Amino acid sequence: MPFVKTENLRIGMMVSDDVYSKAGQLIVRKDSLLSRQMISHIKFYSIEQVNIYDGEMAMEIREAYENRNGAQTTQLERILKSEEYKVFKKDYTANVNMLQDSVSDIILRNTHVDPPSLIDETVKIFNKNQGYFSFFGMLHSMKQIDDSTFAHSVNVAMIARLIGTWSNYDEETLDLLTLAGLLHDVGKCQIPDEILMKPRKLTAQEYTFVKMHAQFGYDILKNQDLDMRVKQAALHHHERCDGTGYPFGLDITKLGDFECIIAIADVYDAMTADRCYRSGLCPFEVISFFEEEGLQKYHPRYITPFLQRIANTYLNSDVLLSNNETARIIFINERLTRPIVQLHKDNSFLNLIHNPDIYIQAII
Ligand SMILES: [Fe+2]
Ligand SMILES: [Fe+2]
Repeated sequence: MPFVKTENLRIGMMVSDDVYSKAGQLIVRKDSLLSRQMISHIKFYSIEQVNIYDGEMAMEIREAYENRNGAQTTQLERILKSEEYKVFKKDYTANVNMLQDSVSDIILRNTHVDPPSLIDETVKIFNKNQGYFSFFGMLHSMKQIDDSTFAHSVNVAMIARLIGTWSNYDEETLDLLTLAGLLHDVGKCQIPDEILMKPRKLTAQEYTFVKMHAQFGYDILKNQDLDMRVKQAALHHHERCDGTGYPFGLDITKLGDFECIIAIADVYDAMTADRCYRSGLCPFEVISFFEEEGLQKYHPRYITPFLQRIANTYLNSDVLLSNNETARIIFINERLTRPIVQLHKDNSFLNLIHNPDIYIQAII
């Protein structure tokens, strides 16, 4: 059971011993799968190293754990067994393949982008599924099947459309926003797969090259008969409202609404890429991630309602807390990651604002 230095901990590793702070407080329980929040806690308490199971051992324990807890399924598992998901998966895969073919035609044969046919399937899938509580879970699960740029682009298009819907955009603007999402990373087609798929850290030179995809994307689209906002989204989706993004370091005063919405959808989808653990993505972890990144990087008009909506979707959901107790979320506080919960064991209330050591580990 090797010790792993805190800076080398990764999401999904399994802890083989209880982790305590220097003051003797339990931070992470034995047999937990590390989440981003757990790693942040470990760092916060300046713990230098953690005991982790090696790969094979982790697999055995995970299987035994799952058999033992067979009766308790997670929300994600229920989604993946549903009929809606089967249909979604089929439609989604066909749509990603179609996008790939269309983008190849645009780049290699210089064909014109035909917005209605390009967005048609994405809009249909969105309309069929966005009402489902499980929409984000389904998008997330597709990451384990297809993590290509095209699948990412379909996800970004749908999440951007959802943000647009929440912002009361009209149908025509929603369609343009969807198109902007589908095409935002079109410039990545100019970056070789060996760099895009490289499992190890990119060299400084490679990273500089990858960052050029924003300009490449704009160059591919600039002579197309398209709304300027779609072209700008390809060029500016890595800009940040506080001026810390690339390629130009523009700030909120220079950025349009589309760029700001695509930036949020893009970060959300990229964040879900590195996790494939059983309980899926915990929405409260998403919120913490944006908070840790710095909310000033994102447009307040869009990031605030986006995170509030995510948190509110989980009102009345059952959750697993970091102390291994289960509870129901009954009130979302202004600090979104710290709701009031009601414990299943005795129906007592726990306000997570006043219990900073306890956090939500998974939606069950
Ligand atoms: Fe990008
Ligand atoms: Fe992207």
